[in-house]
Amino acid sequence: MAKILIQNVSVSYNGFQALKSVDLEVLANEILGIIGPANSGKSSLLRAINRLSEIDYAQVTGTILLDGENIDTLDRNTLRKRIGLIFATPVVLPGSIYKNISYGPKLHRRFGKKELDELVEHALRAGNLWDEVHDRLKDSASTLSGGQQQRLCIARSIAMDPEVIMMDEPCSGLDPISTAKIEATMLELKTKYTFILVTNNTKQAARVADRTAFFLSGELIEIDRTSRLFTSPKDPRTNDYISGRFG
Ligand SMILES: Nc1ncnc2c1ncn2[C@@H]1O[C@H](COP(=O)(O)OP(=O)(O)OP(=O)(O)O)[C@@H](O)[C@H]1O
Ligand SMILES: [Mg+2]
Repeated sequence: MAKILIQNVSVSYNGFQALKSVDLEVLANEILGIIGPANSGKSSLLRAINRLSEIDYAQVTGTILLDGENIDTLDRNTLRKRIGLIFATPVVLPGSIYKNISYGPKLHRRFGKKELDELVEHALRAGNLWDEVHDRLKDSASTLSGGQQQRLCIARSIAMDPEVIMMDEPCSGLDPISTAKIEATMLELKTKYTFILVTNNTKQAARVADRTAFFLSGELIEIDRTSRLFTSPKDPRTNDYISGRFG
């Protein structure tokens, strides 16, 4: 069974259709890459999946199932705990590195001090950040570099024990070393989680995604195993995009 099943999903803003009748399956423990030029509806799709579309005043039609359950029937906070979303610009909370990780889990249940310390360490290790911050956990998160802040956001998501982690251009604006660390994190963690990676860097999709979907003007043009999509795309528009003719 698909981890996430998207059936005939359209997203409109005030009559403008940003996503057009998309059918898509996200398989458990895969990294699904989503590529496409600006305005192809990539972010709109991610925002529909964890119902952030509600705050965009977007009209969403169609059905999205998580483990066979319609996401509209789930409590919004539960849905967002199960499906995390990382944005292009890291959003750190005011306060310490430690608090950034511990804040979310504490909203859901009580923790003892030792248990919380262990959770923070586990999440920071999983996010490939522990070695750089273990001796400064009380420092403000805003003192971290951009690449470290993005890994903090990933660690914060992991601390919530999600099932799916969606990333919306998580490495745009990051240097190659930070980018490599984030890609390594995804590859290390995909046995445990399912990833949806929106990227405007086709090379990044080629490096990490198991399957890649190409979107254009709100339509899903093509989805295939990544190696096949990049070497023998079926649609000429996919070919134009991956060979850099537009976008
Ligand atoms: N909150 C919103 N209100 C109105 N229109 C929106 C909103 N969000 C997105 N849109 C419009 O929907 C279309 C698709 O936007 P979306 O952000 O999903 O594209 P994208 O593929 O993520 O683009 P990019 O690569 O630039 O991030 C765009 O034309 C955009 O202007
Ligand atoms: Mg976007």
